[in-house]
Amino acid sequence: MAAQNNAPLPDGLEIAGYRIVKKIASGGFSIVYLASDEDGNAVAIKEYLPSSLALRQQGELVPAISNENLPIYRIGLKCFFEEGRALARISHPNVVSVVNFFRANETVYMVMAYESGRSLQEHILRRRDKGEKPLVSERFIRRMFNQVMNGLREVHTNKLLHLDLKPANIYLRLDGTPILLDFGAARQTLKTDIPKLYPMYTPGFAAPELYQKNGNLGPWTDIYSIGASIFACMIGAPPQPSDQRSINDKMESHYRKLEGTYSAELIEVVRWCLKLDPLERPQSVFALQKALATKAQPQPELTMFEKARIKISNLFSRKDNLAVSDHTTIQENTQN
Ligand SMILES: Nc1ncnc2c1ncn2[C@@H]1O[C@H](COP(=O)(O)OP(=O)(O)O)[C@@H](O)[C@H]1O
Ligand SMILES: [Mg+2]
Repeated sequence: MAAQNNAPLPDGLEIAGYRIVKKIASGGFSIVYLASDEDGNAVAIKEYLPSSLALRQQGELVPAISNENLPIYRIGLKCFFEEGRALARISHPNVVSVVNFFRANETVYMVMAYESGRSLQEHILRRRDKGEKPLVSERFIRRMFNQVMNGLREVHTNKLLHLDLKPANIYLRLDGTPILLDFGAARQTLKTDIPKLYPMYTPGFAAPELYQKNGNLGPWTDIYSIGASIFACMIGAPPQPSDQRSINDKMESHYRKLEGTYSAELIEVVRWCLKLDPLERPQSVFALQKALATKAQPQPELTMFEKARIKISNLFSRKDNLAVSDHTTIQENTQN
């Protein structure tokens, strides 16, 4: 069955003591709604509904699933449930808080505290559209990612990996504090041979070991994605996808473009996280936090000659740059 658009639950629907207010997002795996609980508090409800396996027509509540797809649908359902169960164990200000679960309409619903704000992805895009320079300030990057990593440390302490870290899954509250969303961690169990449910890793943010069948996954895998997300904040597009990098790595030319805008220390942190060899990356979030906390040395004023060199090298690498942004410009499409 080809992927299709599923009809969302109707606004105003009462379900398990919640009232659906409206759909906020839909991706290939689920639909997220703003809803209110019995006391009128806002919650976000995530509904498991993989569009490649289940079809819900307008006006219906229960999706149609072909007999052929049913076993895979059920495995996914279990994984979605596990994802929520794992998350429910974690209580941390930088990790989305899961408050309830329920079954209805032959699927599963995960109820989270509703957070007002927007994803880091949207934040980057807005700033890019406004032509802000730098795209995201170094100070913001350092402070915000340090908090993201406080949350991630808690996740790793609970023996979970996120595995789908990217700006679309980092949510910024209105006060700018970040929260980790969308734990595909449980989907890790789907890494088997089930193509229809194979985690939709996002090119550019996924470490090379995620592309390998028996890749050695660990904290370093999430750390690659942290580096990729910091890079996306600096340049406005994801890094070159890691499978392409192993053939023809163009990242050095991209790092050079960041010189003069970001400190050498920050660029070095990104370069470290984005090493293709997992052993060459920081091995723990704590090690990375320590590196990120290292103060940037005051930047020496660039000489005319150095400014000209950066300009010229940017001119020459423009083709590559466009190649990266053409396919992979961070678009907050509904899939992410
Ligand atoms: N707890 C929440 N509070 C507010 N918005 C949320 C919450 N959880 C998810 N969202 C919104 O839904 C979008 C998709 O959520 P996510 O968990 O990333 O699902 P998907 O699997 O579809 O990517 C987020 O980018 C965010 O806009
Ligand atoms: Mg997401």
